[in-house]
Amino acid sequence: MTVRVMKNLIVVGTQWGDEGKGKIVDLLAEKFDVVARYQGGHNAGHTVRLGERKFILQLIPCGILRPDKLAVIGNGVVLDPAALTREIDALEAAGIQVTGRLFLSSRAHVILPYHRMMEKASENTPGKTRIGTTSRGIGPTYEDKMGRRGIRLADLLEPEAFRCQVELCAAEKNLLARALDLPESVDPSEIIEQYSAYAERLRPLVADTAALLAREMNRGRSVLFEGAQGTMLDVDHGTYPFVTSSSATAGGVCIGLGVPPTRIGRVLGVSKAYATRVGGGPFPTEAAGPEGDKIRERGSEFGAVTGRPRRCGWFDLPVLRYSRMINGLDSLVITKLDVLDHLAEIPVCVGYRYRGSGLIEMPPLASVLETLEPMYKTLPGWQSPTYGMTEHGQLPQRANLLFEQPRADG
Ligand code: IMO
Ligand code: MG
Repeated sequence: MTVRVMKNLIVVGTQWGDEGKGKIVDLLAEKFDVVARYQGGHNAGHTVRLGERKFILQLIPCGILRPDKLAVIGNGVVLDPAALTREIDALEAAGIQVTGRLFLSSRAHVILPYHRMMEKASENTPGKTRIGTTSRGIGPTYEDKMGRRGIRLADLLEPEAFRCQVELCAAEKNLLARALDLPESVDPSEIIEQYSAYAERLRPLVADTAALLAREMNRGRSVLFEGAQGTMLDVDHGTYPFVTSSSATAGGVCIGLGVPPTRIGRVLGVSKAYATRVGGGPFPTEAAGPEGDKIRERGSEFGAVTGRPRRCGWFDLPVLRYSRMINGLDSLVITKLDVLDHLAEIPVCVGYRYRGSGLIEMPPLASVLETLEPMYKTLPGWQSPTYGMTEHGQLPQRANLLFEQPRADG
């Protein structure tokens, strides 16, 4: 048996998304041959710059921006053909070659218009907890996948089978729509016509991406796995039910791309120097009020996908510790340090207390996370600009204190 040098790296968000994963993946892509997405859909929003141009990529991995890289969208992603073709068009208009470099898993599930309809109904049901989703139909598409009634890209490419499946699904959704007294209904013929056109557009890009990745890795090519969302939004390990519907954590790579665990080498976490969250749900270190507003303003903390103002708060070591355990992080990137440049004092949450006792493990209940008491350590601020610094040695001594916290945390 030969010992294989592990070349592949997972980049994963350690918080509630928006950690700056896109920027890091874009920087690292240079050193890899393939960049692959394993979960989520166009609920993600990765802002990357190429020279003067700014791109917000929602589905297509950032690797597409570098001409010699391949980009893969795995089976674990839910794919909206309308959103994808818009993204392809924008890239092609900017002179970026997509065909022959972007590959879509034939096993990826397709988001259809009735998924958005069902999501709207679910978010607006009186008495039901609002998750504050991105309204892209992500959750209902994963529901159909797990309910074994989903439609995959492979199905979309078989006109007759696709027609039958859509008719069946539309009948079911219309039944539900009537029962829920929804104002909308589903017209299967409209979907069949519109999506058959997408099928022809996407057909050249569809592939068995697990086989493609295996071939690439067998011939020594390296793969960068691009996570979307973050650990605390993971459907199993996050702040359930205020989560997204996929496995955003490192384990999602195996399922969402068909890559065996033995082929994954390293896991890099990305965290902001503070914390943000979009939508509802517990956020222990939230700084509501002027302090949070100042971070939002300095950090331009508005959703890349929905434009919603992000809730802002302080660096949360219990979250990072949990994230390190779940993902097996072996390195960490801290982003947006300069957003804290103005502060005289920087609170860092070092632990949680609940009903008078310190918590050792991350509580599974949102109700506990909402009421626990974060314990803070106050670090002295550096109050000088760090923007644009590229060497660790350039950082003010006090800024190093913040970087030392995760390490000091054991
Ligand atoms: P990136 O990749 C931040 C949040 C939504 C909502 C919850 C469920 O940019 O880090 P969904 O539409 O996924 O069913 O919504 O998850 N959410 C994100 N928050 N960044 C993201 O992605 C997110 N993707 C989903 O705001 O609270
Ligand atoms: Mg986002």
